[in-house]
Amino acid sequence: MTPPEGTAHRPPFPVGWFAVAALDEVPVGELMPLAAFGRDLAVGSAPGGRALVTDSVCPHLGADLAAGGRIDDGQVVCPLHGWCFSHAGSCVSSGAEPLTAAIRLRVWPTEVVGATVLAFNGRDGEVPAVGPPDLASTGGVDDRVERCEGHAEDVVVGLLLAAGVADGTASGDRWLANGSDGSTVIVHGPGTVEHRHPGGTTDVVYVTPVDGFAVQVRSAGTAAVTAAASDGPVSGAVGTLPGFRVWYRRFDSSSAPRPRPVRSGRRNRSDAPAG
Ligand code: FES
Repeated sequence: MTPPEGTAHRPPFPVGWFAVAALDEVPVGELMPLAAFGRDLAVGSAPGGRALVTDSVCPHLGADLAAGGRIDDGQVVCPLHGWCFSHAGSCVSSGAEPLTAAIRLRVWPTEVVGATVLAFNGRDGEVPAVGPPDLASTGGVDDRVERCEGHAEDVVVGLLLAAGVADGTASGDRWLANGSDGSTVIVHGPGTVEHRHPGGTTDVVYVTPVDGFAVQVRSAGTAAVTAAASDGPVSGAVGTLPGFRVWYRRFDSSSAPRPRPVRSGRRNRSDAPAG
C-alpha cells in the first residue's frame, strides 16, 4: 500500500515532552515497566517524590531494572549485582569492580505536571531546551487512557478536528487555534493538547508514541475531545490541517545543537606544536 503523501518518512518518535504515566500509578522506591518511544523503559519515583524514567536494561550485564530495580533519593539500584547509578545516569557503585565512566544508565529528563509524569524524548543525553508544557490548568488526574494506531501527528490532528479547529497560528513550540464552540485549543510541543472551554473548564490530552505503530492517549478533564481518538479518525485525518502539519514537523528532529564530533587521527594545525 502506498503511504499517503507527506507521511512516508516521518520519524515515528518526535522530539519533545510526552506524558508517560499518571503519578499515582508510579511506584515509590521501585521501578515498573514502561513502553514508549520504541524502547523498553522503567519509571518510578524516589521516596522524596521525584519521578524518574530510565532505560530498563542495566548497562552492566543487561538485567531488567523494571523487575526488582530500586530507586531512592540519590540512586537507582540494579537487582542483579547491586550496581548503583545516579539520577543523572553515572555509575556510582560497582561492587568489587572498578568504576568506569563508560558505563552509564540512560536517564530521561523527567518532570511532573499536575498529576502526570512527562519524559523528554531527545537524543541520548540531550538536555531539553525548554521545560514541559506550561498549562493554564492540568485538567486534574488522568481519567482515561487509550491506545490508538497511527502516528502522533495524525492523532493530534484528529483531536483538533474533533474540537472544530479549521486553522491556527504557530507561536514557537505552541500552536493556537479556536474551536467551533468558542473554545481555545493550544498544542504544546508534539504531545500535549490543551482545550480551554468558554465556561472555564480545561481538558488536557497527552499523545505519546509507543512503538512506531501506535500512540497512547491520556486525557484529563471533561475529556470531550478524546472522542476523536476512540472514534478512529486517524487515517481520515491525513492531509487535513496542512499548516498545522508543517508546524508539527519542527519536532521531527532536535533543535538543540549537535555536539561537535570527536576528532581522531592527526591533530588540527592549531593543535600542532610550533616549529
Ligand atoms: S546486570 Fe545490573 S548490576 Fe549487573
